[in-house]
Amino acid sequence: MTAIKRILTGDRPTGKLHLGHYVGSLKNRVALQDQYECFFIIADLHTLTTRPDKAHIEELRQNIHEMVLDYLAVGIDPERSTIFVQSAIPETYELNLIFEMLVTLPRVARLPSIKEMARAAQIDEEAVPFGLIGYPVLQAADILLPRAHLVPVGKDNEAHVEVTREIARRFNRLYGEVFPIPRALIGEVPTLVGIDGKAKMSKSLNNAIFLSDDPQTVNEKVRRMYTDPKRIRADIPGTVEGNPVFIYHDIFNPDVDEVNDLKERYRKGRVGDVEVKKKLARALNNFLDPIRERRARYAAQPGLVEEILVEGTRRMQEEARETMALVHEAMGMYGIQIRRRVQELTPPKVVPA
Ligand code: TRP
Repeated sequence: MTAIKRILTGDRPTGKLHLGHYVGSLKNRVALQDQYECFFIIADLHTLTTRPDKAHIEELRQNIHEMVLDYLAVGIDPERSTIFVQSAIPETYELNLIFEMLVTLPRVARLPSIKEMARAAQIDEEAVPFGLIGYPVLQAADILLPRAHLVPVGKDNEAHVEVTREIARRFNRLYGEVFPIPRALIGEVPTLVGIDGKAKMSKSLNNAIFLSDDPQTVNEKVRRMYTDPKRIRADIPGTVEGNPVFIYHDIFNPDVDEVNDLKERYRKGRVGDVEVKKKLARALNNFLDPIRERRARYAAQPGLVEEILVEGTRRMQEEARETMALVHEAMGMYGIQIRRRVQELTPPKVVPA
């Protein structure tokens, strides 16, 4: 087995990443870059589970570019880490099919995450595509293709990593030890509350602060942020616990004394929401400034994102071939032996210079 342990994680390219992604997973990824060999997947095939339409497919290019810029902006280093596009790796599709045989339908169909994704996409129960039920199986193929040990993800993906572990164990038991049993790594803030006070920050709930939001947008979003609804005047004592404004202060404001002072005065009804929010907006903008700068620097280099994707995908392709060779050997399918013989008969095409 490989000496340096591996990470695989990633995101569906649904648009720009937000603070919830950062605290749930991105922060861990950046921090673990030199301890692990990292593979970051842009899971475009997974977006087809709810949106197979052409209009959506046409959005993917833009979404993928934005997401790579967000990765680079938070400090993922393409020199050390591999960023690749899922649909570019044919082995993913193949391993997905093999894994489909190793999990029962009820095991995946009953997952709350699948129901939640169907609901968010306004898909009725009878209209749920086969592929959406298979979402965690495809995710298992993503994780196990580079034979990853660790999967930094948000809380909502924990159950999918559990399915991956079961599939890996089942494969190893049936055919021999090919896969490590990967572990999920949940961020210090497993689920970040939205600016509307709803349990989860999410692009589709329209309650997100994006890593690429400009300072004015952040100021405006914080100004509108949900806070203690009982506190209609500044002299009414407020509740700090569970209050999104203070949850964000605790996470993003490094000035602990300032935060404690605000909390104390808030509890006593001696501070206005405006001051609490102004200081939060400032803390968030301070946090986001270096991310914005790095994003702008990368975005100014035309062609760079695509170069990074080509190189990352090439690198992942090598790993995928290696893993599938082990899978094929372990399974010993006669058809694959025939495939190899056919490949030997087909001379590689000479590409004219
Ligand atoms: N399911 C992840 C999401 O919620 C995306 C994803 C696809 C993923 N394949 C993965 C995450 C493999 C970690 C590992 O967007």
